Amino acid sequence: MTSAQTEASKLIESEAFRQATERVVQVVSESSSRIRSVCPARSTELSEKFKQALSQFQKDRGRDLFFPFLASGLGSGPLVELEDGSVKFDMITGIGINFFGHSHPDLLREALLAAGSDIYQGNLQPGRETADLLRALLVRVESSRLKHGWVTTCGTMANEIALKIIRQKKFPASHIIAFSDCFAGRSTAMQEITDNPKYREGQPHHGEVHYVPFYHPNLGLRESVRLTLEALHEHLTRYAGKIAGIMMEPVQGEGGFNYAPREYYLEIFEAAKKAGLAIWLDEIQTFGRTGQLFAFQTFELQQYVDVVTAAKMLHASVVLFSEEYNPKPGLVAGTFTGTSASLRVARRVIELLDRGFYGPSGRISLLSDRFARNLQKLSEGSCRGMIASQRNIGGMVAFQPFSGTQEDVKWVLMKMFEYGVVAFQCGHGPILVRMLPPFGVMSEQQVDEVSLIIERALLAVAEERKKKAEVSPS
Ligand SMILES: Cc1ncc(COP(=O)(O)O)c(C=O)c1O
Repeated sequence: MTSAQTEASKLIESEAFRQATERVVQVVSESSSRIRSVCPARSTELSEKFKQALSQFQKDRGRDLFFPFLASGLGSGPLVELEDGSVKFDMITGIGINFFGHSHPDLLREALLAAGSDIYQGNLQPGRETADLLRALLVRVESSRLKHGWVTTCGTMANEIALKIIRQKKFPASHIIAFSDCFAGRSTAMQEITDNPKYREGQPHHGEVHYVPFYHPNLGLRESVRLTLEALHEHLTRYAGKIAGIMMEPVQGEGGFNYAPREYYLEIFEAAKKAGLAIWLDEIQTFGRTGQLFAFQTFELQQYVDVVTAAKMLHASVVLFSEEYNPKPGLVAGTFTGTSASLRVARRVIELLDRGFYGPSGRISLLSDRFARNLQKLSEGSCRGMIASQRNIGGMVAFQPFSGTQEDVKWVLMKMFEYGVVAFQCGHGPILVRMLPPFGVMSEQQVDEVSLIIERALLAVAEERKKKAEVSPS
């Protein structure tokens, strides 16, 4: 038996290692189980320390945080503890990382089992964890044309690789078609694709990204398709021979949880294919959230996808591509692939997602519908006139409070934070309250508790708005 095992696997499978790991999982779970509900700071002393730590951190980073938030490191499911001992519902999960909430025993166990591996892995000398993660992803997209992949460190890096392999394949064409309001990351290349000039202030502009409008529900399918194709054909004519590919978030994240009926994607991708463009889906935010592992599976677009990127809830990032997009040696590499802990956790996340989360009767759909129903009830009842609209798909839940201005949304977010729910914003106008909830660990009752806090926050803001309008009528 021993000669058929490496020292590493003997270590991981040894009784001593197993017991030590389980003991840590157990003591963490005991501490975590004492975090039961939303509560304020534990004491004035902790509160003072928290303020000092926060103030120092904000000074060091040269700007304030959006919220007064410093995590203690522990939590329990959707609940997160802050450094002052206060507890809040985490509905934005580090912008989509912690789909399985905080202090999850299975994920913690994976991180501990990585103690038998190097801390960081790289491209030249990968470990088992990188290979296992890639395999776990590729076997789940077997009905697509995606046959290879690279594991890397963050969404932006995955997108950079996607862009490079598309440009290499289509050389000398290098331009990219992107969608209005899209987000692709903040590297030099990705900030050019991201449709937000504020994010590239003072940066050079190379003029190689051309925008087409995305689907708009008010316009409906036919008009949306017409406008997108019209813009696409204009760019194809104007930049003939120069356009390499089209990049799309199947559900726009930063842009406001915008998505389309399947027919829209089909028509746009048919046109793109006909024009010889590479089809690149950015699933960094949608991965795992839309009722299937990838949104291209939810919308049944397998046959069109040439390149896809994923990150966030994966706890690692990856770019998958078809045989024909496999880049030439030298184009893609880099020192870091990821920590062994994050690579193990990533594989485990994929396995956990297989357990009853997908499909029309899966947990994601159930909890998403519950949120939608609760918000609908509020908008027709106690919060009439305070929720203008909702934009939900699976584990992406958003609503427009009041008139959706930056001021209104920040007001509501801060009030929700004060009352115990951490959320964020999306959309470029109207702006929405954005939630990427940890549906991996939430109960229906917890969705109701969060909805009650949203109700309280909306009512309080409505009252404050009224008072403000009385003092300074516009
Ligand atoms: C759609 C999309 N693409 C790219 C990124 C960039 O990913 P990262 O922040 O991990 O670099 C994000 C992050 O918010 C995203 O939502």
